[in-house]
Order: sequence, then structure tokens, then C-alpha cells
Amino acid sequence: MRIGVLTGGGDCPGLNAVIRAVVRKGVGVYGHEFVGFCDGWRGPLEGETVPLDIQAVRGILPRGGTILGSSRTNPLKIEGGVEKIKGNLAEAGVDALIAIGGEDTLGVAKRLFDQGVKVVGVPKTIDNDLNATDYTFGFDTAVNIAVEAIDRLHTTAESHHRALICEVMGRHAGWIALHAGMAGGANVILIPEKPFDIDRVCAYVESRFQTRYAPIIVVAEGAHPIEGQMTLQAGELDAFGHVRLGGIGEMLAKEIEKRTGKEARTTVLGHIQRGGTPTAFDRVLATRFGLQAIDAVHDGEFGVMVALRGTDIVRAGLGEATKELKTVPVGRYEEAEVFFG
Ligand code: F6P
Repeated sequence: MRIGVLTGGGDCPGLNAVIRAVVRKGVGVYGHEFVGFCDGWRGPLEGETVPLDIQAVRGILPRGGTILGSSRTNPLKIEGGVEKIKGNLAEAGVDALIAIGGEDTLGVAKRLFDQGVKVVGVPKTIDNDLNATDYTFGFDTAVNIAVEAIDRLHTTAESHHRALICEVMGRHAGWIALHAGMAGGANVILIPEKPFDIDRVCAYVESRFQTRYAPIIVVAEGAHPIEGQMTLQAGELDAFGHVRLGGIGEMLAKEIEKRTGKEARTTVLGHIQRGGTPTAFDRVLATRFGLQAIDAVHDGEFGVMVALRGTDIVRAGLGEATKELKTVPVGRYEEAEVFFG
């Protein structure tokens, strides 16, 4: 078989580990051939490919980013996009496709599968918000990067008696904020799933200042106050209709200063959370996903995404994986709330 591989959406530590595992097992065990598509769905849409063989995947296991490149190109928004992709796959002699991506990339994969393309998905996102899998690779790395930053913020916050805010990624789901905040001993954690009360946040800040510690507030970029409390800025939209976020940390700092009279500053971790080398956990998870993805292709089982359930890798329908986002349940947030203030 000749199999195409692509990586779409925001990049994520562990993408290269998946590509390596797919190719190593696909060539070494099954004798398949591979072709890499450049920059997510842009590759199959425009017919841009790169060679993908054992040589191309040597040495990439610990490397961040993706050797195939990525983009947020949405072929469903382009007239005749699906037909173009089908034509280019046929022209490249591709029998099946492995799409490594998050909700958007796998949503496109599902639509292509419905129209006859043989596709298997691999769940990727630092946000950990994909349904049908317990964890996505990249999440553990992002959390560890954020925890290291929070540990460092604690000591400087205490020296200067400041409230320090750490803004992390998480557009619709607060998984990174929840895990990093819990592991980093945050004073309060704010997530998109639960609109926050600014008066309560300020009360937590004041109470932390009563101790010898300084408050660290971990806020997900998609968190927002209860209606009417603060006005948020709106940014540009991308091809999947997502607004460009960022700015909640700064706004919080201003409000906290205004309401408590204490100095407050913000650190936005941004793309640092997505860059660089994956943790050992993510390397192993990404490798196991890659091995199982090529198995699914070899077995002729398409329209599925490989998924982690407990410690097993299983196959879930792409429909189930993309029908809704996996957000933080109320009970998980309540566990963290015990430590607020
Ligand atoms: O999709 C993952 C993510 O990390 C989101 O949390 C974030 O909003 C988005 O990527 C930002 O990505 P970019 O700046 O590449 O558009």
C-alpha cells in the first residue's frame, strides 16, 4: 500500500514521534510505502508532497514541531476542496491517509471518510480537549512547561509581594490550566468552562497576601468573567472560525490592581507551551498512537481515530471523536477549588 501522512492544526510536541512510529512499523513490519503531505490539509489540496521513508524519520523522536509542516487550511471552506483532495490523492497513488490532528483536522478527516477517502486519525492537541481519548499527546509536555514557569513565578512573586498571573493555552477547555495550576500550587485557577467572579478572585488574592506567600493566578486564555463584570477584546478569525485569543491575563492584572491596590503582573506562556522537545510520557504515547494507526490502516479499518482508554490504545469512530469537545467536568474543578485562596 502507499499511505499518505499529514499533520494539521497547531503543532504539538510528539508529532514527529507519531510520524516515525507510523513509518518504522509501516515499512519495517508491513512493507508499505509512504508519502508526506506538506502543511496539513494544504498538502493534499495543492498536491504538495515530500518523500517519507525510514531515512526521513531518523533522529526525529525527540524533536518538537513536525517535519511535515502544519497549517490551519480548511478544505471544506474552499470550493471543490474535497474533490481536489480526492484527485490529488489518486494522482499521488495514495491508497490511504493518516491524519494527525485535533478537532478541526479530524473533523475534515471525518467528512472525507464519509465521501469515500480511506482515512485513520491520530489525536493531537496540547489542549487535551479531544473527545473519545483519555489523553492527547502534547498535553503532558505543555503542562510540564507551565508548571516550571509557575514554580519560577512563585519565588519572584514572594520577593516582590506581587500577584502574578500566568496565562496558559486553552480556548474552550481548561485542562492545561487545571493540571498546571494544581501541580504548581496556584492561588486560583480560571477556566473557560466556569465563568469567574472577579470579586471572588480578588478575595482569594487578598487572603493569600495574609500569608507569607504571594498569589499566583493561573488563567486559561479562553476564561471569561461572569457576564457584565469586565469587557473582553475580540480578535481576528482563522479558517476554522476561531477568534485569536490572548489578553485575559492583562485584563485580570488591571482589575486586581484596581480592586486590591496590590501590584499585579502577567506572564503569557503562549507558543512556548507548544514548542520544543516532548516529555517521555508524550514520546511513548505518540509512539503507541503511531504504531496502532498503521495497524488500523493495515487491517483496513478506516474512519477511526486511535485513542487512549486507561492504558490501552483502542479505535474510536471519527464521528464520536469530533462530535463534541472534552471539557473539564465540574467535579474535577471542585477538586482544585479546595486549594484556592
Ligand atoms: O489548538 C491548540 C491551541 O494551542 C489553542 O489552545 C490556542 O488557542 C491555539 O492553539 C493558538 O494557536 P495559533 O496561535 O497557532 O493559532
